[in-house]
Amino acid sequence: MNIEYYHASRFGNGAKVAEEFRRQAALLGATVNVHHIRDTDPKRLASADLYVFSSPGQWGKPIKKVRRFLSELDLPVGTRCAVLTTEIAPRPDKETGALPTEEEQAKWQRVRPIINELLQKAGLARIAEDKILVTEIRGPLEDGWEAKVQSFAEQVVTATAGAQRQ
Ligand SMILES: Cc1cc2nc3c(=O)[nH]c(=O)nc-3n(C[C@H](O)[C@H](O)[C@H](O)COP(=O)(O)O)c2cc1C
Repeated sequence: MNIEYYHASRFGNGAKVAEEFRRQAALLGATVNVHHIRDTDPKRLASADLYVFSSPGQWGKPIKKVRRFLSELDLPVGTRCAVLTTEIAPRPDKETGALPTEEEQAKWQRVRPIINELLQKAGLARIAEDKILVTEIRGPLEDGWEAKVQSFAEQVVTATAGAQRQ
């Protein structure tokens, strides 16, 4: 199984996540090639059984270069892909100490919904999505991030192997 992984890490956290994904997927027998999108022509991606797209969040969206990259993809309709973003951990309210609910977060945080809209427009079939959190703007990654990446790798490798058997 061949997976092509495209990320747009600026401070290195997303690059670490990509490398951990590559390591975990390799343990499951998959070959993962990791690329930064700045080195990639979105119209000429290497062929793959699965693509993984990853972006840091910025002002509630995926960064602009990722939005442009995804809007220029030229892959066959139905191509399988997965999304793994890096996003800032929600902060507790200064007065109440309560963390924002999913609903409250969704008002300003639209990183994955925007990626998903762009993938849908490109005709791709998204099989999984997740986010890995950073605890401060430039990192570090949240505690336990490796286990989250491991379970994401297991999920997408198993689903892709299942689709190949059909
Ligand atoms: C100017 C700026 C704005 C940001 N805005 C958001 C945001 O709206 N939502 C979010 O989840 N993360 C936001 N972040 C944090 C990024 O998610 C974080 O820097 C990134 O995931 C780290 O990954 P990287 O090291 O691979 O670049 C912002 C970071 C910067 C520098």
